[in-house]
Amino acid sequence: MFNEKKFIEKTISKLQKDIKSKALIAFSGGVDSTVCAALVNKAIGKRLIAVHVNTGYMRKNESEQVTQMMEDLSLNYRFVNASKEYYRALKGAEDPEKKRKIIGEKFIRIFEKVAQKEKIDYLVQGTIAPDWIESGGGLRDTIKSHHNVGGLPKDMKLKLVEPLRDLYKDEVRKIARTLQLQVSERQPFPGPGLAVRIIGEATPERTRLVREACDIVEKEIERASQQGVMERPWQYFAVLIPIKTVGVHGDKRAYGNTIAIRAVQSVDAMTCHYSTIPHEVLDVISTKITNILKEKVNRIVYDVTNKPPGTVEWE
Ligand code: XMP
Repeated sequence: MFNEKKFIEKTISKLQKDIKSKALIAFSGGVDSTVCAALVNKAIGKRLIAVHVNTGYMRKNESEQVTQMMEDLSLNYRFVNASKEYYRALKGAEDPEKKRKIIGEKFIRIFEKVAQKEKIDYLVQGTIAPDWIESGGGLRDTIKSHHNVGGLPKDMKLKLVEPLRDLYKDEVRKIARTLQLQVSERQPFPGPGLAVRIIGEATPERTRLVREACDIVEKEIERASQQGVMERPWQYFAVLIPIKTVGVHGDKRAYGNTIAIRAVQSVDAMTCHYSTIPHEVLDVISTKITNILKEKVNRIVYDVTNKPPGTVEWE
């Protein structure tokens, strides 16, 4: 059985031995990177520099919230706004693996720049087991290249430190609870962000659509869960499918995009079952999305796929 107290003790003393100078942590504000930052902070204190990158593919107000989290954790941090750079790099990229590789490499180039400026030798990442299992290598097939594994460039100069490498999400949450981190119940969000929730090219305009739709799905599902109308899913979001269909607004013809609602139950992300969302909640979500994104989105569909054969994210 996993013993979180022992893990915390052992990891802190190993980090103190392994990290001989300054380290940089890629801080997304999710459970994995926050737990990782808290552990490394305990081990080496201000020698750790947390870097949050706004890739332009964050959820609504997310970078502001993440900055507040870094403040609350008393981390020594830097904020990098790289959204324009990411949009430029992803221009024209449609293939999911290509998109993931571009995003992964960009992260590292940004971290290398900060590291060079601040004389940092180590890169800490909150990589967990499913990230490297699904990224393939050896006899394993590449299901998808997680941004922090398969997207790493081969010529990376920083030394990699991954204290959570052998853990699964439920174990990371246990550590978060033991460390009394508020983030413990936060739903997962992929490193490549909304870019993998936009099928095809992740343009700024498409990102705006999926960001708005994701916000509505999150808020309405959280409201319904708090009211006891449904069980809170493990993860819940919207996906933009660039398939246009015909609709009608008032007495005018519309020709707009499609949004899929995705909500799943899982324990460790290796498998999942789609969540049952009551029809009245689906109704509210559908109406809100098509009202707020009028002219752009006129059809909402509900994803009822398990993993396997699907994956949690669409890309
Ligand atoms: P999939 O889509 O592989 O997702 O079934 C399993 C879990 O991992 C998240 N995910 C990622 N997390 N970097 C991450 O940190 C990534 O590149 C990545 N891709 C997927 C996904 O949101 C789900 O919770």
